Amino acid sequence: MVNQALKASRSGLSFSCGEEKRFMLFIEANRTALVLAPMEGVMDAPMRALIADLGGFDFGVSEFVRVGQSVITAKQILHEIPDLNGPVFGSAKLPLQLQLLGDSPELLAGTAIEACIAGARAIDINFGCPAPTILRRSGGASLLRNPKAITEIIRSVRDALPSVIPVSAKIRLGWEDPNDVDGIAQAVQEGGANWITIHARTKQEGYRPGVHWDAVARVRSRLSIPVVANGDLFTAEDVARCEAETGCTHFMIGRGILKNPFLAHDVRASRALHALREDIPLQLDDRLRISIERYAAITDDQAANAGFVPSRVKQWIRMVRDISDSVPHQVLTAVKKARTTSELLNLMHGS
Ligand SMILES: Cc1cc2nc3c(=O)[nH]c(=O)nc-3n(C[C@H](O)[C@H](O)[C@H](O)COP(=O)(O)O)c2cc1C
Repeated sequence: MVNQALKASRSGLSFSCGEEKRFMLFIEANRTALVLAPMEGVMDAPMRALIADLGGFDFGVSEFVRVGQSVITAKQILHEIPDLNGPVFGSAKLPLQLQLLGDSPELLAGTAIEACIAGARAIDINFGCPAPTILRRSGGASLLRNPKAITEIIRSVRDALPSVIPVSAKIRLGWEDPNDVDGIAQAVQEGGANWITIHARTKQEGYRPGVHWDAVARVRSRLSIPVVANGDLFTAEDVARCEAETGCTHFMIGRGILKNPFLAHDVRASRALHALREDIPLQLDDRLRISIERYAAITDDQAANAGFVPSRVKQWIRMVRDISDSVPHQVLTAVKKARTTSELLNLMHGS
């Protein structure tokens, strides 16, 4: 049944030569890439629209689409990730790689084909999600204990797609022992992944401060595919330290962008990469305030209700407070009191 679906879908997935030329290379061995991390429930289409507007990233990875009992269709995928083919809020573009999560090689391959029909031009597979609801159904981080299954899944997805569509994997170092990463990364490479992203903690470590760059360095030196380093990259100095300790030149940034939405620009400046804009405020407080204003301007028109922007900004600031105690007082007061976008903006300006 699934095989039939695979075959049927595959026939819709041939690209002409001219079309292949338009495919971007998401990760290349010799070119630094800054990647916006997937953050389910936080980094969704409206938030990605803001980050695209502020600029600085090469591409982003979508929050995961869960593949449970059946193939997820192109239509369902576009419903979950409406900005897969371009912005639905604002007009700035951020190329997006679609992430899938599941444990069935066949269903993931079938869904990957549907994803490409929906417009995805790169697929990532999640082997790191520690959420209990996911672990109960044996996807995400639970597969870190079964490297053979990881190889099988990646091979199945890789074989199902044309070679112009890159397939990557995002892992943690292991379930409990950071040294398990060697076998897991090898399994990813054996499956035919084009690159691997490593969040440098084990599942058991959750988000406790401290990452194991030594383990990432060892893995990078043994693999032939590029490694994207991820975990606690909150400043340009963190990125420089990560590069010095791991040798990686590809970096994925998650929570750091919530605290400093212009962080990718700091990293670009520190690495003398092409500057993408010049009007960047110096102070972190100003950066957060300006970003909230931009977010409101981009999303308010299309927001489903008057409370959408304030409630999303409240959630954003809650996450910033998890990693930093320096949220501007006026922003804190504003998110506490505001019920509409205009109230939020007025309160942030102290009026
Ligand atoms: C709220 C939240 C949701 C996340 N959702 C996903 C997800 O859907 N897929 C995934 O691979 N990782 C997910 N992650 C993990 C991040 O992509 C990243 O690996 C992790 O936050 C470490 O990077 P950071 O220190 O730069 O935030 C999530 C993290 C957070 C905090």
